[in-house]
Amino acid sequence: MKVAVIGAAGGIGQALALLLKNQLPAGSDLALYDIAPVTPGVAVDLSHIPTPVSIKGYGGEDPTPALEGADVVLISAGVARKPGMDRSDLFNVNAGIVRSLTEKIADVCPKALIGIITNPVNTTVAIAAEVLQAKGVYDKKRLFGITTLDVIRSETFVGELKDKNPLEVEVPVIGGHSGVTILPLLSQVEGVEFTAEEVAALTPRIQNAGTEVVEAKAGGGSATLSMGQAACRFGLALVRAAQGEENVVECAYVEGDGKYARFFAQPVRLGKNGVEEILDHGPLSDFEQQALESMLDTLRGDIKLGEEFVK
Ligand SMILES: NC(=O)c1ccc[n+]([C@@H]2O[C@H](COP(=O)([O-])OP(=O)(O)OC[C@H]3O[C@@H](n4cnc5c(N)ncnc54)[C@H](O)[C@@H]3O)[C@@H](O)[C@H]2O)c1
Repeated sequence: MKVAVIGAAGGIGQALALLLKNQLPAGSDLALYDIAPVTPGVAVDLSHIPTPVSIKGYGGEDPTPALEGADVVLISAGVARKPGMDRSDLFNVNAGIVRSLTEKIADVCPKALIGIITNPVNTTVAIAAEVLQAKGVYDKKRLFGITTLDVIRSETFVGELKDKNPLEVEVPVIGGHSGVTILPLLSQVEGVEFTAEEVAALTPRIQNAGTEVVEAKAGGGSATLSMGQAACRFGLALVRAAQGEENVVECAYVEGDGKYARFFAQPVRLGKNGVEEILDHGPLSDFEQQALESMLDTLRGDIKLGEEFVK
C-alpha cells in the first residue's frame, strides 16, 4: 500500500507521518508532500526510525510524485484556527487548497481512497466531490471527511466521567464536523448510563473540544497531536480494510443515502473499495433526535457552500 500525506510538514501532517511510519503494515510506502521546503527533510528524519515502511518526502509546487500510485491520500494541507475563529473562517483559504489538490488527485491517482482533514470538513468534502465529479472520476465510496477526532474525544471524556478505560469505550458520532453538527450518541455507549444533566454538559463539551485546544494553544494553532492520532486510526482502518480485513467499522463523513443531507457522518463498514456499507446509526434518544433535527439547516448550508464554490 502507498499512503500519501498532503500537508505533511504541518502540525497534523508531521504527527500523522510519525504514527504511520511506526504503524503501517510492513512493506508499505509512505509519501509526504507539502509546499514547505522542509518536507523532504521531515521524511529523511523519519526514515531513521527502524520500521519496515519506506518513506519519501516532496516539497514545492507539484504534489504529483507523492500522489503517483497512491492507494490512500490523507489531506491536512491548509491553515488552522486561531482564537476567536470558527472552522468556517478557514473557508476562503482552505477551499482553494482542497480544490487544487483534488484536481491533481483526479489526474494522478483517481482510484485512491481520499481522507480529508482540512477544515471546514463539512464544506471541503463537498468541494472535493464536486471537483472529482467535474473530472468524471467521482466515486462516493472513496471520499471521506475524517471525523475521528470527535470519536476519540468522546471516548476520552466518557472514560474520564465514568471512570472507565477509554480504550474500551465506543461512542458513535454522527452529523458533521463543526459545532452543533457534531452529535455524539451517548445513549448508545454500552454499559454506561448518563443523567440528563450529564448529557446536556458532555454533548457541548465534545462539540467545542476543538476550541478548548485552540484557546489553550493561545494563537499557536489547533489540535495537531490528537488529530494526528485520529487520522492515523482512520487511515490504518482504510488500509486494513483495503487489504481484506473484514468488519472494519469507523464513523466518517460520507455521501450516503441523503436521508438527512448529501454528506453525513455515520458508522461505515470499510472494504477493499472504501465504503462497503453505510450502517444505521440506531435508535436515538429524544435529546439526540432533537439535536439531529436542529443541526440539519447548518449542515446542508455548509455543503451547499462547497458545491457552489466549485460551480
Ligand atoms: N478534521 C479535523 O478533525 C481537524 C482537526 C484539527 C485541524 N484540522 C484542520 O487541519 C488543517 C491543518 O491543520 P494543522 O494544524 O496541521 O496546520 P499547519 O498550519 O500546522 O499545517 C498545514 C500545512 O499545510 C501546508 N500547505 C498549505 N497549502 C498547501 C498546499 N497547497 N499543498 C500542500 N501543503 C500545503 C502548509 O505548508 C502547512 O505545512 C487545518 O485546516 C485545520 O483546521 C482538522
